[in-house]
Amino acid sequence: MKLTVNFKGKSQDVEIEDHLPVIDFQHKVEEATGIPPEMQKLLVAKSGMVKIDKLEHKEETPMKDVTKDGSKIMVIGTSMDKIQDLRDAEQEDAQRKEKMNKRLANMAKHGKRAVVSRDRNLVTSEYTFDRVEPLNFLPRQEEARAYLHKIKNDRGVQAVMEKYKWKVGLLTELDPAFNTNHESRKLGQNRNKGEVIEIRIRTDDYGGWCEFKEVIKVVCHELAHNEFSEHDRNFWDLCNKLEKEVKDLDPFGHKGQQLGADVYNGPGLWDQPAENLHCDDGGIGGGSEVLGGSDEEGSLRDKMLRAAEKRRRK
Ligand code: NI
Repeated sequence: MKLTVNFKGKSQDVEIEDHLPVIDFQHKVEEATGIPPEMQKLLVAKSGMVKIDKLEHKEETPMKDVTKDGSKIMVIGTSMDKIQDLRDAEQEDAQRKEKMNKRLANMAKHGKRAVVSRDRNLVTSEYTFDRVEPLNFLPRQEEARAYLHKIKNDRGVQAVMEKYKWKVGLLTELDPAFNTNHESRKLGQNRNKGEVIEIRIRTDDYGGWCEFKEVIKVVCHELAHNEFSEHDRNFWDLCNKLEKEVKDLDPFGHKGQQLGADVYNGPGLWDQPAENLHCDDGGIGGGSEVLGGSDEEGSLRDKMLRAAEKRRRK
């Protein structure tokens, strides 16, 4: 029989045997269009879409039962390029998910002190971080949240907070984009002596996570700002003492936990005096100041909004 096959507005006359199975016809269409049979839709003029699953012999049904001599068939489909794009995207997505699952599994396995699925209720003391929140405009929020919980539930951190009776309102992350410039690289911030502590946990490119051991050093620094705003001798003495205590008061000690394959190895400052790590320019705000008041850097909320705005404009 003779058929006119139309694809993307172009028509082509073909001659096929009446008994040619539909699937073989589809393979001919594939040769001409690059569309594999499973992505093809065949529309026969006047009788509509060919529903291959509903045909008596499915894809083996002869073409004469599908259409008749002289008919026009329109082919609709997705080209291989697009399919490949789609498959690439799917594969990428799957890889990303797998990587994240691995990382979380790794955190759960190695973080004996902070199993991700259980860690939200591990701390029973009142001397801890009241709330833990990742920045809501950054990607991979659940990983960030898990990381922050890992900090909160770290036995050493718990022990020093208990010892010094520190209650911190919020533990959140410091946005690398907003706190990195050619002059400085802020690693943490303490606002109003413990109202909010921000810690940099992401690498500058958002592609990975800072090494936990290094982050804990920053946590010690920011916790010390609960007592002293200035970087004076009192401050550094407390800071160095805290770094020792988070190890000594933790029954398991620090064994250089890793979060996954793509951790940032940090500046390698763990074994150096606290003074060598530039974390911030001192605590912001006095004990009684209201967050977001006259503080020259603005409130956390403002800062978050500005950072989000900055990213939008990029
Ligand atoms: Ni500081």
